[in-house]
Amino acid sequence: MNVPSYSAASPDQRAVRGIFSHLADRIDRRLRIRPLGIISDFVADQLPHRIAEIKNTEQRAEAVKALGRSINAMLAAGDYEAHLLNLTQSEFGVAKTDIQYLLNIVYQMSAFAGLNHYDAELTVGERLRRIAALSCEREPSIDVLSYEDMILTNPVESDPRVYCLDSAGVEERDFCLGHQLIERDLQFAVDTLLELRDQVGADARWCLTLCLERLESANYILTRFHDHMSPDLFGEFREFYGKNPYKNRLAPSGRFSARVVAVSVLLMGEEIFRKKPQFYRDVYRLSEYYPRGCIGAVFGWLSSDKRSTGAQPGWLRGKAAFPKIATVSPVIERKSTQIRELYASCVDALDRFTRMHRKSALKYTIEPGRPIAGVEAWESMDAVLSQRLLTAAD
Ligand code: HEM
Repeated sequence: MNVPSYSAASPDQRAVRGIFSHLADRIDRRLRIRPLGIISDFVADQLPHRIAEIKNTEQRAEAVKALGRSINAMLAAGDYEAHLLNLTQSEFGVAKTDIQYLLNIVYQMSAFAGLNHYDAELTVGERLRRIAALSCEREPSIDVLSYEDMILTNPVESDPRVYCLDSAGVEERDFCLGHQLIERDLQFAVDTLLELRDQVGADARWCLTLCLERLESANYILTRFHDHMSPDLFGEFREFYGKNPYKNRLAPSGRFSARVVAVSVLLMGEEIFRKKPQFYRDVYRLSEYYPRGCIGAVFGWLSSDKRSTGAQPGWLRGKAAFPKIATVSPVIERKSTQIRELYASCVDALDRFTRMHRKSALKYTIEPGRPIAGVEAWESMDAVLSQRLLTAAD
């Protein structure tokens, strides 16, 4: 059977080659996606200018309060709450990104201006708070900017939502786009592994070859992050994506990529459980930060009755054996040496991804001492970055 090659020219590939190329210092908005009308226009076109103004003025507190008033006045001018509930699912995703981008930046800029908790809440205002809560009701999610808002539903390819202007804004867009492209590859990898695991008579060579191609593509993009992203520009936009300064919540982080979890479980779930059970404890403990649909599906595979309650399963409390059937291992064990070697190459590609990621996290975040986003103060950063590694970190 012919295996279609990922290397055939695809729009994804063109996008991949362009990221972190530093050729432009302006975002080219090819297709406007504005589900909330003037609210979306404000986020996409004006917000970065307002942020720059606040950063450059001496009257920071007044400027951030004025930002809060403008947002609440815009929200008061229409029935955005009813509108939000009537949007299609894809329009709603972008609308939620718009709302959560606004909410996040008002908190971040309030802290920058030195506002206390009470004044920060006043600045956020009733209408923004209400519509933000409504967006989290329609799509159950954490009540702060999530990985899903920032990466998965941000229309980064055509009409990105970013906080920075000029080249820092382009770098910020590419950071989100690179994540989105990797997420796309991981979704393909998950689909092929599910076919292998669940379809009687699935062509193992075909499934694993496609999976390997997608993991190699993800590795290629991650290497671009490591080699080409500018540490200075990263520092410029990263400051807006930190933990909410007034709430005890974690910030958006690749740690909350449910597809990284899915592919890891499918390929080497049992081995991770034997060597790094903390990985699973963390995923269940932090489940509300992950995109619900995808993490719910993973919990379904891992639960004996296929339900995805999100409660810690018995096997994680030592009450049952790990459900190996959630992984592709039982299928692989019945296959030829050649197929087992192909499977080993997939495991190796995922391992290289984790190692390259760890190196990038150290280069851009840990070594420059930037605030961490997706780790609790009491957690060990090293343990988090190595939580899916089965052999010692480099
Ligand atoms: C240069 C780009 C990147 C940097 C600097 C970076 C930084 C970090 C940091 C500091 C952490 C620890 C938790 C936190 O504080 O957020 C982390 C965790 C994590 N990030 Fe990234 N990250 C990058 C790109 C990515 C990409 C593209 C993905 C793919 C989805 C990703 C997936 C993860 C995962 C899964 C974890 C949890 C640790 C693990 O399971 O390996 N990161 N990252």
